[in-house]
Amino acid sequence: MTCQTVLIHTPDPGVAIDEMIRVARPGGLVLAAEPNNVASALIFDSLNFHDAVDEVIARVRLQLTCERGKAALREGNNSIGDLVPGLFVARGLRDVAVYLNDKTNPLLPPYETPEQRAMLEERTDLNDRDFWIWSRADTRRYFLAGGGRDTEFDALWSIAVGGSEKVDKAIAARTYAGVGAGIGYLIAGRKPEAGAA
Ligand SMILES: C[S@@+](CC[C@H](N)C(=O)[O-])C[C@H]1O[C@@H](n2cnc3c(N)ncnc32)[C@H](O)[C@@H]1O
Repeated sequence: MTCQTVLIHTPDPGVAIDEMIRVARPGGLVLAAEPNNVASALIFDSLNFHDAVDEVIARVRLQLTCERGKAALREGNNSIGDLVPGLFVARGLRDVAVYLNDKTNPLLPPYETPEQRAMLEERTDLNDRDFWIWSRADTRRYFLAGGGRDTEFDALWSIAVGGSEKVDKAIAARTYAGVGAGIGYLIAGRKPEAGAA
């Protein structure tokens, strides 16, 4: 029984895991591939590696506050992967194991692989729609639900999505380099055999 980047969207991942366990056969594997997305706020690229500490912290604060707010609104938690191994154990799954996805999506000059071209197209599309991780409206809604102050939002949004022109220029000059890393877990557990103690 498998899910991938689904538990992050559920209001109560424990309920979804309960259901996965219910439909798995006794002795069968239950697998979840789920991320910790807030960690991406501390992955740097060639342009922001030396940003002021306060600016980095502001990006982390915005993202984490929004994630907390989104979860409080019961729209899911984008970093739930950190909790899934414990949720598996708490529900009686056996042999719980946690693996780390080693896939990266580097964006490196001359940006000519099909994946890199697709990433640049996606980037243009997101820029055109004033979209960060979420739309600006959703980001504000999550920020406020997470306890952020309305008066702070515009400045934090500028820090989060600002610098976009700098990135565009660096890409045009073939100097931009990003590692494209993220934390994605694969969590495995086994449903006990029927009658197992
Ligand atoms: C990022 S997609 C992942 C799709 C697929 N597993 C994959 O990896 O390509 C997230 C999926 O979660 C589903 N989803 C969103 N909210 C959900 C909820 N509250 N309960 C169950 N599924 C949900 C969506 O329909 C969507 O199919």
